[in-house]
Amino acid sequence: MSALNELHQEVAFCQQCGIAKHRTKVVPGEGAENAELMFIGEAPGWHEDQQGRPFVGPAGQFLDQLLASINVKREQVYIANVIKCRPPGNRDPLPAEILNCRPWLERQIKLINPRMIVTLGRYSMAMFFPGKSISKIHGMAQRQDNVIYYAMYHPAAALHQQSLRQAIEKDMLKIPSLLAQVEPVIEAKQEPHQLTMF
Ligand code: URA
Repeated sequence: MSALNELHQEVAFCQQCGIAKHRTKVVPGEGAENAELMFIGEAPGWHEDQQGRPFVGPAGQFLDQLLASINVKREQVYIANVIKCRPPGNRDPLPAEILNCRPWLERQIKLINPRMIVTLGRYSMAMFFPGKSISKIHGMAQRQDNVIYYAMYHPAAALHQQSLRQAIEKDMLKIPSLLAQVEPVIEAKQEPHQLTMF
């Protein structure tokens, strides 16, 4: 079994937060172990909780369409969430839940070692761009240690709001050229290079 599958199995036993009692299925994440592109959402919703898979409801279908717009298949990327259990009633994740779940996400990032991390929504953005506002930094990339960090609106928010929908569609289209700017092989002693300063 791969290290990533082992991690997924470990997550399934996690009882760190009270919400573990309410879950139908844990949603560790899924996708290619060698993915260049990793998407990080917020938390599982009802559909995800039922199936144990991330982004399988309406927001997920929209994400699939966005991926198709750049000729990328879902199986080629890795998709995870900030927290792995559905918050009851789809409430926002609590700070303690985010903190408890953080080591799982850190281990996922380490194992996948993506070239680009795309945050979907405010909670995911806050982990990599603390103190920033999504309306200001969406569609902007920051490169650090040969990884590109890129913030986008959450597909669920963009689904029914025309202005956000146009923004997320436009932001998605920038991903291939950003990805092409990162070297596949990390060069020793390379200085972190800021693609965009904010
Ligand atoms: N919204 C998220 O943030 N994650 C999912 O997996 C589904 C909806």
